[in-house]
Amino acid sequence: MKININTLRKRKVNSEPVTWITAYDYPQARIVDKSGIDMILVGDSAGNTTHGYESTIPMTMDKMISHAKAVARGATNAFLVGDMPYMSYQPSNELAVKNAGRFIRAGMDAIKLEGVMPERVKAIDEAGILVVGHLGLTPQSKAKLGGYKVQGKTKEDAEIVLEQALQLQEVGCAILLLEAMPPEPAKNIAEILKIPVYGIGAGDKVDGQLLIFHDVVGLSFDFKCKFAKQYVDTEQLWAQAITSYIQDIKHHNFPSQQHFYESRE
Ligand code: KIV
Repeated sequence: MKININTLRKRKVNSEPVTWITAYDYPQARIVDKSGIDMILVGDSAGNTTHGYESTIPMTMDKMISHAKAVARGATNAFLVGDMPYMSYQPSNELAVKNAGRFIRAGMDAIKLEGVMPERVKAIDEAGILVVGHLGLTPQSKAKLGGYKVQGKTKEDAEIVLEQALQLQEVGCAILLLEAMPPEPAKNIAEILKIPVYGIGAGDKVDGQLLIFHDVVGLSFDFKCKFAKQYVDTEQLWAQAITSYIQDIKHHNFPSQQHFYESRE
């Protein structure tokens, strides 16, 4: 059954953890959806995972919409979140609403935006679009944060993130994502906020967990991050398959009779 915002709210009330993963194309969406995932994020991390960039900054609305449409075609049950890329919402409310609308047209159920931009959240919410806030480590502001650093480590910093979280809830955020924070402040935020609070590298006491698809299946190559868990070595499996294919051709083992078309007499 299709997951909607009410399902996610009920899960929080019943303390049932929500499962969330990124996906960027049709086969990934199909597989994670059929496996029973609750939510899919079409993340601008596609910049790193799929396009091979060093950051998410080069991702544009057109690229993100292409990923979103492919994911929407592959998923039937999961709640779908489109990630607003760099400069698709920062300049004005008007641009933010327009681009959020493009994600909804592409089949997403909600959009996600990074940082504390209460006016943008309010404008998008008032346009009838569900907003997922994203606090803690926000990759689009890497330079301002002084690099990809864990956030909310001190009591003062944790207090700041809590204030920001309350502000986002107040202006209409439907869900909040916390990235790269120690478990205690994240737990505190999840307990205080009424909206569902999920984490990626924010400990085990939040309302749900997000991971990057490529980290879970072992396609992140040399990049390893502390909070991720790899469940299969796809890089190895695919490399083995391709090596076998190459060897088969070289040794005249492929194609063979079963792969030939028959000609008519
Ligand atoms: O783009 C993405 O996948 C994200 C996660 C890292 C939270 O925003």
